[in-house]
Amino acid sequence: MNDPETFFGGAPEAHASAPGRVNLLGEHTDYNDGYMLPVATPQRTEVALAHSHDDQHHLYSGTLDGNVTFAAKGGSAPQGFGSYIEGCIRLVEATGVTVPPLRVFVTTTLPVGSGLSSSAALEVAMLRALRNLLGFTLDNVTLARIAQRAEIEYARVNCGIMDQMASSLCDERNMLFIDARTLEHHLVPMPPGTELIVVDSGVPRTLAASKYNERRAECEEASRKLGVRALRDVTDPAAVDTLPEPLRRRARHVVLEDLRVLEAAQGVSAERFGELMNASHDSLRDDYEVSIPELDQLVAALRAAPGVLGARLTGAGFGGACVALCRAGGQEKFAARQAAETALSTYNKAGRQGRILIPVPTQGKENNEPV
Ligand code: GLA
Repeated sequence: MNDPETFFGGAPEAHASAPGRVNLLGEHTDYNDGYMLPVATPQRTEVALAHSHDDQHHLYSGTLDGNVTFAAKGGSAPQGFGSYIEGCIRLVEATGVTVPPLRVFVTTTLPVGSGLSSSAALEVAMLRALRNLLGFTLDNVTLARIAQRAEIEYARVNCGIMDQMASSLCDERNMLFIDARTLEHHLVPMPPGTELIVVDSGVPRTLAASKYNERRAECEEASRKLGVRALRDVTDPAAVDTLPEPLRRRARHVVLEDLRVLEAAQGVSAERFGELMNASHDSLRDDYEVSIPELDQLVAALRAAPGVLGARLTGAGFGGACVALCRAGGQEKFAARQAAETALSTYNKAGRQGRILIPVPTQGKENNEPV
């Protein structure tokens, strides 16, 4: 295992970090031009940079204990975490910035594969670090767009814009309302007197990519049949009733999920927010069909835990994590942790490997400004 001192032969010249995201409402709405409400995770990915003295980019992941090297000018494309970094470098170059050969050191406290967008955090941290090192101008929305392109064009994951917008613009104390069509965004305070719980189901998201693409295609077909640009343009839920199955149920999820986000973004009580989260999960399970029995069981265990107001799967589904909104007790984080432990003791009885991701013992920074 390398340490940064050894890797750089001294101190790095620039560094930056970025968080993952937990989506509280608005699932599978971003690629339908809709709305969502994520928050930042306390866990972050950190990228440190320095010039390299040859013509190669040298990457090291402290978490994966892996080295990746690729030519600064052309050459073969790196795999794994290197593909995200390469994407960020090449896309920044495409804006006219000259990127010198670099040494790149990556560490993260984000769990990989739990659906908290560790990849978006890596892209955003890398782009921020490049901005800090090279001093070019790049606003946070454009940065999110470049990060999304790195993921689609270099890591070959067909994602929407939510994760990168969240990583670039969210903080931990507020939700970020995002309109995926216009990229208009603003902070919305968390429901008063609440804490978040995020629990990893321990189930890897094996089907996620293929089913994700299938759902996207179904939504596009539903839009075509309804004669709209995207499902976000359907504001009357009854309009989807003319669609054949399963398109009717897919479209119903998206249309009602958008309405849930719009209601929550107005500022609702903690109880109502919990109800909206419950309705969101039920819709993802029954209409959108991206849940699995383990996620349903974990959600049921969370809903039954003391102080929990609502719970749902978060992210694309087919494994990964669930999020719950919990009433904060006198000793805030303690109440949430206790509720999470109660839920996990039920869920893990069946030999499952669930684990608490949030609350973490020490919370991270409050604001998400580049460092
Ligand atoms: C993944 C994608 C996002 C979004 C969610 C589902 O996290 O990366 O763009 O589509 O799934 O809401």
